[in-house]
Amino acid sequence: MVITKTRSPIRTNVGLKVVMAVTGILLVLFLILHMLGNLKIFTGETSFDHYAHWLRSIGTPLLPTTWFLWIQRAVLTVAVLAHIGAATVLALRARAARPVAYAHRKKIHVNYAARTMRWGGVIILLFVIYHILDLTTGHLNPQGDPANPYGNVVADFAPERWYVTLFYALAVITLGFHLRHGAFSAFRSLGQQTPKGERRARTAALVFAVVLCAGYLMVPFAVLTGLVA
Ligand code: HEM
Repeated sequence: MVITKTRSPIRTNVGLKVVMAVTGILLVLFLILHMLGNLKIFTGETSFDHYAHWLRSIGTPLLPTTWFLWIQRAVLTVAVLAHIGAATVLALRARAARPVAYAHRKKIHVNYAARTMRWGGVIILLFVIYHILDLTTGHLNPQGDPANPYGNVVADFAPERWYVTLFYALAVITLGFHLRHGAFSAFRSLGQQTPKGERRARTAALVFAVVLCAGYLMVPFAVLTGLVA
């Protein structure tokens, strides 16, 4: 009798790709909402600080203050870990399945994209850790006042701290490339599997990544140039 070992559905390659897609969508949703929230800085100090304080009271009085925020943090952390875990297992399996590199040219593009995604992911993770210590806990922020998020942002991207804006810009552009590839894969899977469908998916992914990057970059550059002070 031959006994075959079967994987649970989530551990198959398709299962892991579903994990990547679902967690990717959750993270993208957060990114869209966070970008829109950041743009409130253009509505002035009182309005932005009010918004930041409101974030802590979402769900009240049903939930105690800050509970929603902590649930969101837990969900995002699990999503990030699952996204990285699934990507790592898929990459290791792909390597194990083909120890000898393809000589075909098309494969070079695939490897380039995969490597960019991997290193891009690592840079984004390091950025998020820095960013939380900067604007959430305030440890790396020149002002670090939890009662005044607007002041923290303005102090952070002050013209003499141009290197902070540069670092944020590089991280956001890395995020843009990561999102473009992720969104392209998702749109391609959902759309028509034809050259025209692929071209549309590529354009939609590019537009999405550029809009998100521009939305994020506007805030540090507005402070750097004195538009927001
Ligand atoms: C480049 C422009 C950005 C600005 C001006 C900005 C601003 C902020 C501010 C002010 C906070 C603190 C909110 C508060 O606690 O009141 C925050 C938190 C956070 N940001 Fe950003 N952010 C930017 C980009 C990003 C990017 C690109 C990511 C993800 C890749 C990100 C992820 C987060 C996370 C995870 C938190 C913590 C949320 C929490 O408290 O649970 N941010 N950001």
